Amino acid sequence: MPMRMMITGAGSGLGREIALRWGREGWQLALCDLNEAGLQETLVQVRAVGGDGFAQYCDVRDYSQLVALAQRCEQQFGGIDVLVNNAGVASGGFFAELSLEDWDWQLSINLMGVVKGCKAFLPLLERSHGRIINIASMAALMQGPGMSNYNVAKAGVVALSESLLVELRDAQVGVHVVCPSFFQTALLDSFRGPTPTMKAQVAKLLESSPISAADIADYMYAEVARGAFMILPHEQGRAAWQLKQRQPQALYDEMATMATRMRARSPVAGPAE
Ligand SMILES: NC(=O)c1ccc[n+]([C@@H]2O[C@H](COP(=O)([O-])OP(=O)(O)OC[C@H]3O[C@@H](n4cnc5c(N)ncnc54)[C@H](O)[C@@H]3O)[C@@H](O)[C@H]2O)c1
Repeated sequence: MPMRMMITGAGSGLGREIALRWGREGWQLALCDLNEAGLQETLVQVRAVGGDGFAQYCDVRDYSQLVALAQRCEQQFGGIDVLVNNAGVASGGFFAELSLEDWDWQLSINLMGVVKGCKAFLPLLERSHGRIINIASMAALMQGPGMSNYNVAKAGVVALSESLLVELRDAQVGVHVVCPSFFQTALLDSFRGPTPTMKAQVAKLLESSPISAADIADYMYAEVARGAFMILPHEQGRAAWQLKQRQPQALYDEMATMATRMRARSPVAGPAE
């Protein structure tokens, strides 16, 4: 029987590449996103590489839509083996300028979307002894300046994943959390923040990635197969995380210097007169 995977945010970027990587192995895929045209394109590409499945509109902020998706997986596939909580949005801005609405928006998608995905699919995963793959970010581990709401959402995804790792061991449900550094996708289209210049700064970081979304999906595939919990696809990210664990103060000092440089380049975020 083919294995079955559900992927949120599968209409673009990393979600699409995950669909293609697992699709190449002949998996049945349930693909969801807000972007219906992107979803259809992913499904066409998945079929071309040997996978199959269906696409369904789903906003991860709406628990009832995730529950409906789980029901469709039950009806159409007879269950699910892997849940990938990948849907996410970008944000930036120094804490002083971020509004509470910016916080609510960011947390409702990047953190609560993952919580709701896990909650809606857990009964199916318990039955299949399946696994959860949550897409966090290096932001969860490094807390770079000018993106505190994104950092907190992604750190929450790591904390949730660690909680589930231990709680679900007896139920034989596996958990993985992926923490990529920046890589080129359509992520910036969703950018929200009070400082337009910061969007341009993030755009440069996305462009600077030495690896692509497809490389990340490949790396994930191998790491999930060997049972790794925390998956850091960028070599530079792995080095930075090791350094932070050994010498946290050195990292905080570097981030503070980075914050000063960012402020200098970002007039709206400059010091008050
Ligand atoms: N690109 C990067 O540099 C980077 C770095 C680290 C982590 N990530 C994470 O990787 C994941 C995938 O992002 P990407 O870079 O492929 O970006 P992307 O914008 O190409 O893909 C994200 C997809 O999520 C969908 N989405 C957004 N809000 C949604 C919602 N409420 N419900 C359902 N779908 C929704 C979007 O429509 C989009 O198709 C995100 O969680 C992101 O935070 C990205």
